[in-house]
Amino acid sequence: MRNLDVKWAVIPCAGNGTRFLPITKGIAKEMCPIVDRPTLDYIVQEVIDGGVTDIVLIVSVDKDDIKRYYTYNPEYEQELIAKGKVEAAKLIHEVATKARFHYVTQYELLGLGHAVLQAKKIIGDNNFIVCCGDDICTYKKDEAPAKQLIDAFKRSEGNTIVGGQTVPHENICRYGCMDIKKDCGSHLYELKGIVEKPAIDKATSDLASLGKWVFSPKIFKYLEKTPRGAGCEIQLTDAIALLMKDEPCYFYDFVGKRYDCGDKLGYLTAIIDVALSREDLKEGVIKHIKNLKI
Ligand code: UTP
Repeated sequence: MRNLDVKWAVIPCAGNGTRFLPITKGIAKEMCPIVDRPTLDYIVQEVIDGGVTDIVLIVSVDKDDIKRYYTYNPEYEQELIAKGKVEAAKLIHEVATKARFHYVTQYELLGLGHAVLQAKKIIGDNNFIVCCGDDICTYKKDEAPAKQLIDAFKRSEGNTIVGGQTVPHENICRYGCMDIKKDCGSHLYELKGIVEKPAIDKATSDLASLGKWVFSPKIFKYLEKTPRGAGCEIQLTDAIALLMKDEPCYFYDFVGKRYDCGDKLGYLTAIIDVALSREDLKEGVIKHIKNLKI
């Protein structure tokens, strides 16, 4: 019987983040804070809420700050405890121990598909979810988008799941657009193809790929034979197109509010919404917004 468990996640975090320069010259884009946690930590939490136990972070040579954040540091914990800061010690202990973290360096930044391919050895025979390191979601308890996609993977008996949402028609030209073969009900669609950034009048649907996928390890075979595509990079979408020639592939329209934190406005709205969702900050933020003379 086919193994349908998904206990591993791959989070590509090696990109240069040029849209966020100059800050990304000194700090990884994925480490930019949303209130008091790095952007990446919201994605890490989402995959853990989806049942993942092992997380592979794809980093570039200069992204030590990501490793430092997740590394268990007992000396620092003891130091905090000795100073009576027990809650602070608990907080950093929880960050480092909530999953098993693995790091793989992508030495040459040859695109998202290439980043995922770097995880081949460590993933082995396991199924895995991929979530981009700069896309966060807010969601109701027990409804993590990662969980919804993993459930869809099980429902589709272990076939590839492309995660995304319906976007306004005028925006579909910014995303991978789904060409649908069959509506399988309850948010699941069988795919005929994916058209990368189509012209608005050529778009076959308003269903957009939004930085989350679930794969069996078979995807590595296709990534290995994917030639360089757009931007001279190895595109994950091109590997999925090759795989689709051999087996079915599905789209899942997930529920949850998604923020593109690789984009300045997306990042700022994420900070405001997260702050408004927190009991310790909500009142102060509302007061500030109401006082703004816009
Ligand atoms: P993006 O294209 O949004 O990231 O990739 P980028 O290249 O850092 O951004 P800009 O356009 O220069 O501002 C989506 C995700 O894939 C990772 C990025 O870190 C990001 O989390 N990525 C991208 C890699 O890990 N390796 C790559 O070669 C490219």
